[in-house]
Amino acid sequence: MRQLLLWSNLLLFLGIASCGPAVSDSPKDLPVRLRVPQGFPSLDFPPDNQPTQARIELGRRLFYHTDLSMDGKTNCGTCHVQSSAFTDGRTIAQGAHGQSGRRNTPTLANLGWSPYLMAEGGVPSLELQALAPLHEPSEMGINMMDAVARINAHEDLRALNRLAYGRDSLDPFTITRALAAFQRTMISGDSKYDQFKAGVSNLTDLERKGMELFFSKRLQCSECHSEPFFTDYGFYNVGLYTTYPDPGLERKTHLKADSGNFKTPTLRNIAVTAPYMHDGSLNTLEDVIAFYDSGGKGHHQQDKRIRELHLSQEEKEALVAFLHTLTDWNFLQNKTLSPWDE
Ligand code: HEC
Ligand code: HEC
Repeated sequence: MRQLLLWSNLLLFLGIASCGPAVSDSPKDLPVRLRVPQGFPSLDFPPDNQPTQARIELGRRLFYHTDLSMDGKTNCGTCHVQSSAFTDGRTIAQGAHGQSGRRNTPTLANLGWSPYLMAEGGVPSLELQALAPLHEPSEMGINMMDAVARINAHEDLRALNRLAYGRDSLDPFTITRALAAFQRTMISGDSKYDQFKAGVSNLTDLERKGMELFFSKRLQCSECHSEPFFTDYGFYNVGLYTTYPDPGLERKTHLKADSGNFKTPTLRNIAVTAPYMHDGSLNTLEDVIAFYDSGGKGHHQQDKRIRELHLSQEEKEALVAFLHTLTDWNFLQNKTLSPWDE
């Protein structure tokens, strides 16, 4: 309600500024311009889901609302925890009624730019993606119609929904759109490394050495983990196993050539998103570097760039130090991305 009051004040102000006729009492939704970090491309919202204050606020409330889950205890924020860059520290995600999923929870940072979602890229937009965790028994485990009935019992959400989408009741269309609008505001581009590039922060000698290694022809890390998002959104088999229990992209394409191919994960905020890889099988960044140094397990589809690197102890430490500079503390603490009652 505080938010709604704030908007009517803003509207009053705008009304006076434009010297129009009497301002109506009912609050109106206001467009939002999101700040895009330096070096990022422009952020596109779908034409039918342009960002507004009410849409983003509704999405935030739904993201943290346990009424969207079967057990009434789980919400998106249970697994996507802000202080861990919207991951959960578990090897494999655990959802409503303690059911285990299949995969490690990925970060939600900068998904507004992602051309597709999920580890095998099977979901084309954030609007559609929201349906997956709601239905999935190992996540929220709820029937959409039950969720809609429960969520409509909340007058504050209905008021926001009217403001945001002009509909009296929340429905699958408005729920998924609001969740997507909120998630597009999860923008992270203010790490120590970004500040270094902008000339306002310095890197230590070790961090700088790690940076040079990361971008070097010898290691080729940045060919897949490319700037500005530290992912090229490509799919690769890095040779984590000789036989993959989870076939990755093959699940979607049914092509043997895609076996063990997973989307390159972003490395932004990587220091706070342990454990690592699609199945959370590597516990620390040191383990990940040791894995790359070893050249992978030698899967027959393994990408050629994954090969023995012969890193010295100091080089390994430098790489880890560089990866730590990709943490964006403002993003992890930004109140507009936190539950509203905190
Ligand atoms: C039980 C834990 C859990 C809950 C609850 C959960 N998620 Fe997830 N989320 C995951 C896991 C695990 C994945 C990766 C799934 C995969 O790749 O197959 C994921 C993937 C995603 C992705 C795709 C990320 C990418 O990089 O492509 C988005 C977006 C997302 N979740 C948003 C949400 C939203 C919105 C909600 C609430 C409606 C939610 N999640 C609830 C665990 C969870
Ligand atoms: C051929 C493309 C490619 C190259 C080269 C590459 N990576 Fe990766 N990286 C990936 C993919 C794909 C994954 C996810 C693999 C999986 O989950 O099975 C990954 C995972 C990671 C992870 C874990 C991310 C997470 O969220 O779990 C880190 C850290 C990482 N890579 C760092 C590096 C470093 C450092 C180098 C250079 C030594 C490097 N990568 C080289 C494609 C690549």
